[in-house]
Amino acid sequence: MEKIGRTKIVDLFKREDFGAVVNVKGWVRTRRGSKQVNFIALNDGSTINNVQVVVDLANFDEEMLKLITTGACLSVNGVMVESVGSGQKVEIQAREIEVLGVCDNTYPLQKKGHSMEFLREIAHLRPRTNTFGAVFRIRHNMAIAIHKFFHDKGFFYFHTPLITASDCEGAGQMFQVTTMNLYDLKKNEAGSIIYDDDFFGKQASLTVSGQLEGELAATALGSIYTFGPTFRAENSNTPRHLAEFWMIEPEVAFNDILDNMDLAEEFIKYCVKWALDNCADDVKFLNDMFDKELIERLQGVLKDDFVRLSYTDGIKILEDAVAKGHKFEFPVYWGVDLASEHERYLVEEHFKRPVILTDYPKEIKAFYMKMNDDNKTVRAMDVLFPKIGEIIGGSERESDYNKLVARIEELHIPMKDMWWYLDTRKFGTCPHSGFGLGFERLLLFVTGMSNIRDVIPFPRTPRNAEF
Ligand code: 4AD
Ligand code: MG
Repeated sequence: MEKIGRTKIVDLFKREDFGAVVNVKGWVRTRRGSKQVNFIALNDGSTINNVQVVVDLANFDEEMLKLITTGACLSVNGVMVESVGSGQKVEIQAREIEVLGVCDNTYPLQKKGHSMEFLREIAHLRPRTNTFGAVFRIRHNMAIAIHKFFHDKGFFYFHTPLITASDCEGAGQMFQVTTMNLYDLKKNEAGSIIYDDDFFGKQASLTVSGQLEGELAATALGSIYTFGPTFRAENSNTPRHLAEFWMIEPEVAFNDILDNMDLAEEFIKYCVKWALDNCADDVKFLNDMFDKELIERLQGVLKDDFVRLSYTDGIKILEDAVAKGHKFEFPVYWGVDLASEHERYLVEEHFKRPVILTDYPKEIKAFYMKMNDDNKTVRAMDVLFPKIGEIIGGSERESDYNKLVARIEELHIPMKDMWWYLDTRKFGTCPHSGFGLGFERLLLFVTGMSNIRDVIPFPRTPRNAEF
C-alpha cells in the first residue's frame, strides 16, 4: 500500500481540498451496502463523527473484504470527495485498504444499545463506543480548561504527595501503604502494630487531599492549585463516590471566605462555558442520547449568580419544607451533615440555581477551618449543584496558631504529625482560603452522566479494582 501521512478524521472534516488523496486509520463501526458498493463507517476517536468510506467491491480482493467486520482496524487510502448522504461534508472513495487488525464475532460491541452496567464490565473496550469516546474527550478538555484558568490567573500548579502520613480531612478513610509482611506483623505489648521497620518508618497512607501541603505552597508562592488523584476508603456505594478520584485544590494567600466564593463561582462557570464552546459535538451527542436538558442546564448555570446562604438559613428552608409535607429520607435539624437529597432540594426545588452554603457547624467540618465569632460555626463553603449536590468543598483556613492548636487538641489529632503544618501559623501566618473541586463530580455535571463510574476510565469502588 502506498505510504501517505495519516489524516485524523477530525481534521479531515475541516478540509475542503476535494480530490486530494488521503490516508485515514480507524476502527469499523458499521458496514452496509449492496453487492456492488459498501459503505464503511470508520471512527478514529478524534471526533464523535465517523467518516464514510465508499468501497467499490469490484476493485478489491474478496478475501480482504471478508475481514472488514465491526471492530476491525483499517488503514484506508482514498480520494476525498464531497458527501451528500453521510451526514458529513466529506467522504472517502477507497483506493487501497489494509486490514491492520481483524476482529471476530466475539467482539462484545457488535450491536448498539448496551446498558451502562454491561459497558462497565468491559471498561477496557468501552472507550470505543460513541458515549465513552465523548465522555473521555470532554474529560481531557476539562483538564485543559482547568490548567488554563489557573495559569491565566497567575496560579502555580503545585504537586503535592500522594503518599502521606497525615489525614487532612480527619475522617479516618485512608488506604494504608506498607511493605510489611501482613502475615507476620510486629506488635508491641499493647497490641499496636510497630511501624519502625516499615518502608517509611511510620504508618503511611494514600492521601485524601493535597490541601495541607497546598497551604504550605500558598503561604510561599501566593496562589497555587493542585490537580491530582486522591483516595478515600469510604465504603459508600453511591453514584457520586469513588475510592480513587481526581481533585483540583486552589489555595490562595490573603483570600477570605468571600474571595474564595468568588473564585469558586468564576472557576466553575469558566469550566462549564469551556465545555459548551470546545466540546460542542460531544455535548450535543450526550444531550440528544441521554439527557435532553443537558445543554439547557449548562447554560442555566452560566446565566445567574449562585445563591449564597448560611447553613443555618438553609436548615430553616429545609425545616419549612418538612413542615409543609415534603418527605426526606434523612432527618433535618441544625447540626446534621446534609445529605445529597437536602442539598438538591435547596438547589433544584427551592432556588432553582447553584447554591453556596456557608458557616457550617464546626462538628461536621474539618479541623483546619476558621472559627467564627459564635464559636459554633466555621467559615466553610460548599458549592451545591443541580443533579450532583456537593461539587466543591472549601473554607477560609484558621490562621491563628493558638486557635488551631486548640482545635487539633480538641479533636485528638496527633500533634507530632502536624508540626510542619503548624509552622505556617508560627512563621508569618496570613489569612488564606481554598477549596477542592471533585473532577468527576464536575464531569457528571458537564456530561449529564448519572453514575460517577461512567466519567472516569477505570473506576475504583468498593469490591471493584478490575482493569
Ligand atoms: O469536601 P472535601 O472532602 O474537601 C476536601 O478534601 C478539602 N481538603 C478541599 C479543600 O478545601 N482544599 O472534598 C472536596 C470535593 C467534594 O466537594 C467532592 O466534589 C469531591 O471532592 N469528593 C469526591 N468525589 C468523588 N468521590 C469521592 N469519594 C469524593 N469525596 C469528595
Ligand atoms: Mg465536603
